[in-house]
Amino acid sequence: MTKPKKIGILTSGGDCAGLNAVIRAATEAAVGRGWEVVGLRNGHLGLLNTPPDVVPLNADNLRGDMLRAGGTILGTTTKGDPFAYPGPDGKKTDRSGDVLAAIQGLGIEALVVIGGDGSMRLFDRLLSPGNIPWVGVPKTIDNDVPGTEFAVGFFTAVEIAGQALDRLATTAASHRRIMVLEVMGRDSGYIALFAGIAGGADVILMPEFAYDLDAVAAHVRRVTHDRPSPVLVVVAEGLKRPASERREKSSIGDAISAELQKRTGFDSRCTVLGHLQRGGTPVMFDRILGSAFGARAISLLAAGENRRMVAWRGGRVSDIPTTDVTSGPSFVGADSQMMRTARRLGIYVGEGPAA
Ligand code: F6P
Repeated sequence: MTKPKKIGILTSGGDCAGLNAVIRAATEAAVGRGWEVVGLRNGHLGLLNTPPDVVPLNADNLRGDMLRAGGTILGTTTKGDPFAYPGPDGKKTDRSGDVLAAIQGLGIEALVVIGGDGSMRLFDRLLSPGNIPWVGVPKTIDNDVPGTEFAVGFFTAVEIAGQALDRLATTAASHRRIMVLEVMGRDSGYIALFAGIAGGADVILMPEFAYDLDAVAAHVRRVTHDRPSPVLVVVAEGLKRPASERREKSSIGDAISAELQKRTGFDSRCTVLGHLQRGGTPVMFDRILGSAFGARAISLLAAGENRRMVAWRGGRVSDIPTTDVTSGPSFVGADSQMMRTARRLGIYVGEGPAA
């Protein structure tokens, strides 16, 4: 492949903290090579506009607080599948060719796609027919992108959830209550596990592992010596609902809280953290990861690489083929280091892999 002279950068999927650090680093690195950089707005959606919704990226619009700013200056989307794009009449049409045509029409020779595993799958499918080289940068608070130990945005979410536990701990202590914190993560328990360890949780319930409410209640009674005491429980949003809890409208955290109150006799309350985990200023590690990933993405394109995703592996920035990523989300391993850590700390983390 010839080295590109004009590249596009876009963010795709749910936002998180640290995206702007990636955009900034990739732009700096590309501009430093004398390339022209175009920001594509709102993921693939801006490419379906007439004219395409794009913004030039250069040293001027990178200055200021970009590194510190949450969200994404380019906007993003989780909607409008280009292979089944909903029209005004609700009819779905394949507009993937229009996305490709817009990229080619803009004279963009290569792309940096900042997204989760779903976005990697989407762009692999979108760009392959046009043979447009691209490099992916993994981001998601869920940390469920295969092939990388950490994705941009994860540690900010862990920080927010850990700080929430710090605050819940003092009110839990004052009232001798169980405090349940429900965190995001989709079908993975990474946020729950890391924040639970950092925030001193007694119980961490994750979708990957089966749990038994009687065993959880027994664990709570054991750590409290059977007297009302502060107890911190972290529940991942993707956890399966207990069979005994039929209030489908309550959140999973509420359901677990109600069951634990019933089974222990201790007062229990639930907090659902929600999108707070995605917003605001990125923590330093997300800025470091974002900066290193953005710069590496450009080095890969400069080396003529295509269909690679940058990754954090064994404490280093590395890269892997996108075909290793498109197989779907990754999950917390039963024998992973942090699971072993949690067990050694005496935290209840379930009864073993979920069926
Ligand atoms: O994938 C990121 C994430 O925040 C998940 O943790 C959560 O389940 C989902 O997105 C929420 O999506 P939305 O912002 O569309 O409600």
